[in-house]
Amino acid sequence: MHLNMPSNDAACLAIIIAAACDVGVNKRKRKQRVWMKEWLKKRSLFSHANLLKELQVSSPLDYKNYLRMNSTTFGELLALVTPYIQKKDTILREAISPKQRLFATLRYFASGLTFEGLKFETAIAAQTLGHIIIETCEAIIKVLKKYLKLPQSENEWRNEAEAFARKWNFPHCLGAIDGKHVKIFKPPGTGSYYFNYKHSFSIVLMGIVNANYEFLMVDVGANGRVSDGGVFSNTAFCKKLVEKDLCIPEPENLTSTNIKLPYVFVGDDAFPLMENLMKPFSKKTLSNEEMIYNYRVSRSRRIIENAFGILASRFRILLNEINLCPEKAVIIVLTCCHLHNFLRHYKVESYYQGGIDVENINSGEVANADWRADPTLLQLQALRGRNTTTVAKQIRAQFCNYFNTVGAVPWQNKIFQQ
Ligand SMILES: *[C@@H]1O[C@H](CO)[C@@H](O)[C@H](O)[C@H]1NC(C)=O
Ligand SMILES: *[C@@H]1O[C@H](CO)[C@@H](O)[C@H](O)[C@H]1NC(C)=O
Repeated sequence: MHLNMPSNDAACLAIIIAAACDVGVNKRKRKQRVWMKEWLKKRSLFSHANLLKELQVSSPLDYKNYLRMNSTTFGELLALVTPYIQKKDTILREAISPKQRLFATLRYFASGLTFEGLKFETAIAAQTLGHIIIETCEAIIKVLKKYLKLPQSENEWRNEAEAFARKWNFPHCLGAIDGKHVKIFKPPGTGSYYFNYKHSFSIVLMGIVNANYEFLMVDVGANGRVSDGGVFSNTAFCKKLVEKDLCIPEPENLTSTNIKLPYVFVGDDAFPLMENLMKPFSKKTLSNEEMIYNYRVSRSRRIIENAFGILASRFRILLNEINLCPEKAVIIVLTCCHLHNFLRHYKVESYYQGGIDVENINSGEVANADWRADPTLLQLQALRGRNTTTVAKQIRAQFCNYFNTVGAVPWQNKIFQQ
């Protein structure tokens, strides 16, 4: 554990204390701190486990609202993580069960409560929560790894592209990419290293999603000061993309055309234009064709914005300043992304209802998702940066041409008649 971390941060301190206790450095102190309060001794009486038992039977919807998953999915997740978070009872105390640990962790994500606040729902002392939540997160990431990974073969990539073409009318699109800031409290002793351009402290969550709002890749942790493009260039993913080390198929003819184009990701203006990364035209005056292209790109890009929207409206911890040191905050964000994919995979219905923009395909009009109306969500701020090469520009021009000819969709022109 991070015993050498600066000690004036309350949360980190709590974790350090908990960690220290666990390795036996400070057993006496833990006994006092954790068992001091009488009501905490009566956890079975006062924790939300009783409430959840009742909700499971009489109000499954409230259960899901409380933990962001139904009891069946919870059971599956619990079975997966239990081997990693099970503790033995000691003579002094009964261990906190894996179920309690998972309840606490999921509730922490869903509620956005601090450990102090969560104490009253879980009947677990705040510093103990700090310890077990991180531990449970690490277990969740471990067991859900297979739900969040890049396609491993050309055909797997082609399948992603087919889904994109079918759902969002963007052929050869492998995924949409974007980055968001997640605010954290100023980490002690870091000066302005994590200070972002909007004058708050943050870490960056960069993600790529497929046509089904599932993350294919997430990269969390660059400090908030770096621009989006800058962060992207530093990712292992960007390196692999440039070195063609991702098993992405070579350029191919678009289905039933003679137009040969590479497979690409789509991003916003913050990203560099690359052979395998398309972004909108950003100049001031655009031709009609370029506006159509931009519309078609933004339509595909909306998937990642919506994925972030779903993520933050489900796991409200991401809306607040996370009161943890950056290393812990990174684990929290990563865990949210893994849970997101897990829930998408099990199609936990209503999980995304209201969380995504709804498009009227006849008019091209977009009804904004609930989360866009929620001002607190704007705390996940957008980012900036840029780059361009000649070849990439030619590819963009070809896509632009395609969208204005054989690849046109009937409603795209209406966009400009309003
Ligand atoms: C952006 O361009 C600079 C030089 O203009 C180059 O060094 C850098 O690698 C480029 N970044 C990406 C992501 O291509
Ligand atoms: C792809 O298109 C080119 C023309 O641009 C054509 O000559 C070639 O036969 C096509 N390839 C396939 C595999 O259809």
